[in-house]
This record gives sequence, C-alpha cells and structure tokens, in this order.
Amino acid sequence: MFKNILFLGCGNMGRAILQKILENNIFQDNQITVVKPSSNNLIANVNYQNSLNLLHGSYQADLVFICVKPQDSEQVLNELFASKITNPNTIFISIMAGKNLKFFQKIFSKKVKIIRCMPNILVKENNGIIPYFTSKNVSAIEQDFFEKIFNNFASCLALDDEKLFHAYTALFGSGPAYVFLIASLLIEIAIELKVEKNIAVKLVKKLLFGSTQLLNNSDDISQLLAMITSAKGTTASALEALNKNNNLQKLLRKAIMSAVKTSKKLA
Ligand SMILES: NC(=O)c1ccc[n+]([C@@H]2O[C@H](COP(=O)([O-])OP(=O)(O)OC[C@H]3O[C@@H](n4cnc5c(N)ncnc54)[C@H](OP(=O)(O)O)[C@@H]3O)[C@@H](O)[C@H]2O)c1
Repeated sequence: MFKNILFLGCGNMGRAILQKILENNIFQDNQITVVKPSSNNLIANVNYQNSLNLLHGSYQADLVFICVKPQDSEQVLNELFASKITNPNTIFISIMAGKNLKFFQKIFSKKVKIIRCMPNILVKENNGIIPYFTSKNVSAIEQDFFEKIFNNFASCLALDDEKLFHAYTALFGSGPAYVFLIASLLIEIAIELKVEKNIAVKLVKKLLFGSTQLLNNSDDISQLLAMITSAKGTTASALEALNKNNNLQKLLRKAIMSAVKTSKKLA
C-alpha cells in the first residue's frame, strides 16, 4: 500500500515511533527517509537528508509522518508543499500538539488526507495511548491501516470530535511526565530521609511498577486506597495532608488546565 515513507523530524517521539515501526517489520528500513537538520541520533540503514531539497527529483512520499515541533511546522510544511514530493494520495500522519486539521488544509488543500494523532512516549514500552482524528477523505481502509500500524505498540482510540485533542494531549500525551515527576520527587524525599540514593531509585521504580500492576488488576480505585489506609495510621495522615483543602486536586487540575490552555494556544 505504501512504498516511500517520509519522516519529517525524528526527535524523541518521531524516533520512538520509527523504531517501533522497524521492530515490528511494518516497513523496511530501505523504505524510510528521514529529513531533519542534524545528523544526530540516526537509525542505521535509514536514508537521511538534512533538507527536503536534497531528495531525489522523482521521489514521491506515500506516507509522511510529521514529527517536528508545532512552532517549526508552518515553515517546514510550506517547504514540503513547495517541494512537490507529496501528491493528493499522500497520507499525512501528524503527531504535533495543537495543530488541527484546518492548519494542514490551509497549507496543502481542503482535500488533504490527514490523520492527526497524539501518541505518548509509552509507545517505547508497547504501552502507548494514541487518540486520533482523520480528515473526511481518509478512507476506512486507510484508517484501518493506521490502526494496524499503531496497535503494534499502542492502544488507538478514534475521536469523534477534534476539540477533544486538547484534553487528551494534556492528560495522556503529557501524562507520563506527571508520573516521572512524582517518581523523582519521591526519590528526593527518600534521600532526605537518609535512604541511600541507589536504593531509593530502585525502590521507587518498584513501587510505581507494582502499584500500576495492582491498579491494572482492580476495578475500584477507592477499594485499593481503603485497603492500605487504616484509621489514624501513617498512610491516613499522609493522605490527609495531600487532600487538605483539596490541595493536591486543585494543583493537579491547575496543571492539566495549563496544558489544555497551551494546546489551544498552539492551535
Ligand atoms: N515528546 C513527547 O512525548 C510527545 C508526545 C506527543 C506528541 N509529541 C509531538 O511530537 C513532536 C516532536 O516532539 P519531540 O519531543 O520529539 O521533539 P524533538 O525531540 O525536539 O524533535 C523535533 C524534531 O524536529 C526536527 N526538526 C527541527 N526543525 C526541522 C526542520 N526545519 N525540518 C525537519 N525537521 C526539523 C529536529 O531535528 P534534529 O533532530 O536534527 O534536531 C527533531 O528531530 C511535537 O510536535 C510534539 O508536540 C511529542
């Protein structure tokens, strides 16, 4: 179905997706071209160019992964359009935060075939979450193909309203960062409490991993909380401090709303 695959930008997220695509034999390395300014972090055997202008004159991309930062995208996509290496049948997969379908339609045409998605970095562990939304002219077969690619390393979820991207981006695109931040704060506090650093790191990781497993096997989070919170005990006093005046809830809500606001601004 697709012969030439172009990655426009291939940094943290683009590279994670490309690696998974190759690992799962979805495409072969000789089908892939990566265009990005620097030659750092390249993947072996993948054709690399530092500019679109350097692509072979007859090169036509069947599938384009847009993995640049939103703020770089307008210039890069205008260059892509001018380069004529895409055509009306090319399918674009954008992973960029904020940039909506209208943005692409303005640059290419109203008929551009675009799949907008918001992966998270957990694709690296085959546990990603990928909400997506397609333009009208992406066919059911093409949409199925998209899911087939991404289901190898993530759970795909078709959104019926593009506006939901702001919430999904703030909650699940950025979500792993919230968990990593909590991990690093717990490690910091453990060290303050004289736990050796390497032990603190190992045990905090184990704590999060085990808790996730338990969470995964339970339907009722309040039951889990009750299971480890005895009245007037240590957990109860910690939870009381976290919940006082809904402090933690307010802070989390403020953080997520701030991410939602930024997502809207990027659009
Ligand atoms: N990181 C995440 O967890 C995550 C999650 C969901 C969505 N996203 C989205 O993924 C996109 C990339 O994020 P990232 O974290 O992967 O950023 P990143 O690591 O900074 O990657 C950006 C990539 O764009 C390349 N680039 C910059 N200017 C370019 C140009 N003019 N032409 C072609 N390539 C160019 C960079 O090239 P060099 O490598 O040469 O510097 C780099 O490979 C963003 O739009 C973001 O919203 C990221």
